[in-house]
Amino acid sequence: MTDFKTLIAADKGQKARTIQILDVFNFEDWLKDQPDSVRSLVTAYKFVANPESYLLLPVTGGKVDKDSSEQGDFTVVAGVRNHKAMEPWDLVKLGGKLPEGQYRLAGASAKDGLFGWLIPQHQFERYKEIENKQGPSVLLVKDEIAQVDEAVRQAEATALVRDMVNTPAADMGPDKLEDIVEKLSETHDADLKVTRGDTLEKNFPMIHGVGKAAMREHAPRLIELKWGKSDHPKIAIIGKGVTFDSGGLSMKSPAGMLIMKKDMGGAAHAIALAKLVMEAKLPVQLHLLIPAVENSVDGNALRPGDVLNSRQGLTVEIGNTDAEGRLVLGDALTLAGEDEPELMIDFATLTGAARIALGPDLPALFCNDDDMAAGLLESGDEQDDPLWRMPLWSRYEYRLKSAIADTNNVATGSFAGCITAALFLEKFVPGDVAWAHFDTYAWRPASKSGRPKGGEALGLRASWAYLKKRYAG
Ligand code: BES
Ligand code: ZN
Ligand code: ZN
Repeated sequence: MTDFKTLIAADKGQKARTIQILDVFNFEDWLKDQPDSVRSLVTAYKFVANPESYLLLPVTGGKVDKDSSEQGDFTVVAGVRNHKAMEPWDLVKLGGKLPEGQYRLAGASAKDGLFGWLIPQHQFERYKEIENKQGPSVLLVKDEIAQVDEAVRQAEATALVRDMVNTPAADMGPDKLEDIVEKLSETHDADLKVTRGDTLEKNFPMIHGVGKAAMREHAPRLIELKWGKSDHPKIAIIGKGVTFDSGGLSMKSPAGMLIMKKDMGGAAHAIALAKLVMEAKLPVQLHLLIPAVENSVDGNALRPGDVLNSRQGLTVEIGNTDAEGRLVLGDALTLAGEDEPELMIDFATLTGAARIALGPDLPALFCNDDDMAAGLLESGDEQDDPLWRMPLWSRYEYRLKSAIADTNNVATGSFAGCITAALFLEKFVPGDVAWAHFDTYAWRPASKSGRPKGGEALGLRASWAYLKKRYAG
């Protein structure tokens, strides 16, 4: 894992290159004050300080290198949306792209922009080293020092999600999810509990039912971590840990299966959020739950038409074995609810329908509590980690009916597939618990500056900012 801490240092006047931060509003004034050589270069490159644009300028003497601690060779001018309030992704084009060295900002405080400096400097290198990698680039900070720890933790949490999702299913099975949660529990002196085998079958029939076909190599389990003081409010974080989703006997097409190593993306988000909660010592009693299974095929695989019992008592007819996420989450949500937490959040790569509705970048948020939903949406905007609320539209519930069991796991027809999936989950959530469900992609299909194609954290910083606001005061 990238050592993000080393990428930010205290500014003690050491040699460094300058990054002049500008926006379209103060650009003209700045340009007026520049020597002719700078002005003509900036104009020739048509640089007008648009967000995410930047330019390297040779240090030619005169105003750009008047700072005696200037490292020399070149200086950087960079455009942002508002130089008075840096945003999380503003520096994402610079960190990781600029040549190795030390930099300091001029004309802005990095504060909320530190995350964007750090995260592009992380790459997934488990199976090969990335060629032509730039950096490391170190940012020198003065008044932003208070924000550094938080930015480093957010970058670490984001990198953890990306790395876990990028790791192929053969190296990120239920046992690996267990290892990761176990390490986390050791670091934070938390309690770990793992349920498997006969106990899983008896107490969590839906988790067992989905995972049993992979019993020999990747046995299903429920991984739980508990942390915090007993007089603090209880919160539960749950993540879909399907380490590979073949679809089961309702098998996916090759194209549909291709990136299904990412189906534990919800678990990665939940684990990363739990890590942030514990690192910040948020005054809560945390319950993390990861149902970890591989949705595979074997002679004993769950079949379409089978009926499963659930921890909650509802019988569930299997209309489609590819709708497995809602099954494993159902039992985990039931257990989480038994502790009567005041809040439950789950993350899941639950439906293709959510992606058809909102595309890859925008997680669908379902929430049974309007204040909580508003708070999450607001935090998402503030963090530039946007969410879109979708309705728990109870009048579609009839579509989950089964002739022979209490419910089917899929709706008839494919309309509003993410809503009917969320309605299925809602059956396992106690009515008086505030609950948010993120149907997230956990994947970036094409790279974007500083954000490589592959695993991605989507909804993590939004939910973290919300929890911090709600519980840290
Ligand atoms: N893991 C998939 C959802 C998914 C598919 C997320 C593609 C992102 C991209 C989930 O287990 C699934 O297969 N859902 C089915 C449900 C259907 C059978 C009702 C789906 O969305 O097609
Ligand atoms: Zn599936
Ligand atoms: Zn799935």
